[in-house]
Amino acid sequence: MPPRRVIIDTDPGIDDAQAILFAFLCGQFQIDAVTCVFGNVPVDLAALNALRLIELADRPEVPVYLGAPEPLLRRRLRFAPMVHGEDGLGNVDWPRPAGRPAPGYAPVELARRALEAPGQIAVLTLGPLTNIALAMRLDPRFAGAVKEIIAMGGTALGPGNVSAVASANIMNDPEAAKVVYGAGVPLTMVGLDVTKRVRITPERRDRMKAAGTRIAEFVYRITGFYAGAYLKEGIAGFPVHDLVVMAYALRPDLFEVKRLPVDVETEGALTDGMTVVDFRPFTDRPANVTVCLNADADGILDWYERVITSAGERDSR
Ligand code: BDR
Ligand code: CA
Repeated sequence: MPPRRVIIDTDPGIDDAQAILFAFLCGQFQIDAVTCVFGNVPVDLAALNALRLIELADRPEVPVYLGAPEPLLRRRLRFAPMVHGEDGLGNVDWPRPAGRPAPGYAPVELARRALEAPGQIAVLTLGPLTNIALAMRLDPRFAGAVKEIIAMGGTALGPGNVSAVASANIMNDPEAAKVVYGAGVPLTMVGLDVTKRVRITPERRDRMKAAGTRIAEFVYRITGFYAGAYLKEGIAGFPVHDLVVMAYALRPDLFEVKRLPVDVETEGALTDGMTVVDFRPFTDRPANVTVCLNADADGILDWYERVITSAGERDSR
C-alpha cells in the first residue's frame, strides 16, 4: 500500500507524543506537516514539543506550524498540566529541539496544502478543532478539498472526561467542533468510547523500557507522569487516546463503526461540549459522522509496541 498522505493537527501532550512517534516510525504515512493548536498546553509549547518529536523521529524536514492560541469565541483556556506535566511531556526535561516552527499560520497552511492536492490529504486531529474550523472559514473550498478528517474527541455512549458528557478536545472549543461536525466533510469520530479502552498496562510500559532504544526510553520516561495521573484516579494502565486515530487511519478493519447523525452542544451548564449522537433508527437527520464504537485494543497496542521497540538503534543511556 502507498503511504497515506496526512497532516497531523495536535497539542502535544503525552498521548499526542505517542501517536506522532508511531505515525513517523510505522512507515505507512507521508506526513506533509504538523500543525499545532492550544489544548493540553499553550500553542507555542505545543509547537516546541512537536519539534522535539520530529527530531526524535529524525524527520526535521517536516514543517511544524503554529496555529490557534485560543478557542474561536471563548476566552477560557484549560490546559492540562495535571495530566501531561507543566511542559506537556511529563516534565522529563528532554533537550530543547534545534528546529523552529516554519513561517506560516496553521489554518492558512491547512487550507493551502489541501487545495494544492485536492482529495489527497487526510487531516488527523489530536486536539481541539480550532485550526480546522478556522481553515474552513478562511477558505470554504477547504472542506471539499480534504480527503477526510479523523478526529480524536467526543463520546457517543459513555461519559465524558472533563464533564459528565464532554471530552477535552471538544470542550476546549465547542464552537469549532460544531463548525467541523457540520461542514459536510468526511469525518470520523474517534471518541472516548474506544480510546478509553486502549490502555497501556504497567507490564507493557516496562517491556518498552527493556527495548533500550532512545525512542523507547523517551516513551517510557514521558509516560511516567501520565501513568501517575491516571493512577491517582484509580486507573492502573493509561489510555493512549490520540494513538487510536493513527490506528484507525491505517487499519479501519480493527474498528466497529456506524454512520450516525452527530451534532455538538455549545450551551448548558451540564451539556456544554457534548457530542449528541442520534442512534434512533428512524431519525430524519442525515448521518454526517462515522462513529467508532469499538476497537481491537490489543491489536492496536501490540502494533504500537512493535513499532516503538523496534525503532532506532540501541542506546546505552
Ligand atoms: C484528549 O484530550 C487531550 O488531553 C489528549 O491529548 C487527547 O487528545 C483526550 O480526551
Ligand atoms: Ca491531544
